[in-house]
Amino acid sequence: MTSDQHSEGTARPPPRHIAVIMDGNGRWARAHGKARHAGHRAGVRVARSITRACAQARVEVLTLFAFSSENWQRPVDEVNGLMRLFVEALQREADELHANGIQLRFIGAREQLPEILRRRIAAVEAKTAANTGMTLVLAVAYGGRWDVVQAVRRVAIKLRAGELEPADIDEALLDRHMSLAGLPPPDLLIRTGGEQRVSNFLLWDLAYTEIFFTPVLWPDFTPEELAQAMSFFRQRQRRFGRVAGQLEALAD
Ligand code: IPE
Ligand code: IPE
Ligand code: MG
Repeated sequence: MTSDQHSEGTARPPPRHIAVIMDGNGRWARAHGKARHAGHRAGVRVARSITRACAQARVEVLTLFAFSSENWQRPVDEVNGLMRLFVEALQREADELHANGIQLRFIGAREQLPEILRRRIAAVEAKTAANTGMTLVLAVAYGGRWDVVQAVRRVAIKLRAGELEPADIDEALLDRHMSLAGLPPPDLLIRTGGEQRVSNFLLWDLAYTEIFFTPVLWPDFTPEELAQAMSFFRQRQRRFGRVAGQLEALAD
């Protein structure tokens, strides 16, 4: 049997964890003769519909990149508008997310966020903490490099306290200190907006993630495009460094 025939016959598991770089709001707004903020508002509506679609598709974890460490460098009006939008969206969506059993988790440098947003985040995390449905991770003021640094710092504190020895430091230990600790790593990363780069998203966690780039701008992204990304994922053979023959032997 050829490997192609084999892969057709083998049901590949769907992605457990999907991560998304929601890019293209500004270009969408410009194309519609609107201010950038209108693009961000449209982007929130799409985040809502894709969250629903992922929950319906039984995705276990959805991680959305909403604001990067580097996005602080944008014009202050845009940054303030985004922070207000996050506060409003959390207030508006919290009850429905909770009713659907979704657990919310935030990753990022939350001490950098405005007080009102920090309070809202803490409230929605507490409210949904016991939920057992999909985990929705929102990356706000997040950077992959920041994540590695905060993990190393927490490990260093334990070293100094004598709770750890240098020889205890291995991949599993560092993994337990990363922001996504306890969750499966992303199987599929989707980036909208046409750029083919990672822009300091989950650097540690993306080691073996399949990446789907699409030129569609985030406010135009639909559940049908999500389905396309999932079907792209199902066609990938995830070898994790092995050769195809080994995987076929394992599947038999
Ligand atoms: C992504 O859209 C949203 C954030 C980074 C907050 P952009 O605002 O980057 O949109 P473009 O890339 O300018 O079109
Ligand atoms: C990445 O988009 C960050 C988010 C989507 C939150 P950017 O628009 O900031 O990325 P670059 O600057 O084009 O790499
Ligand atoms: Mg962008």
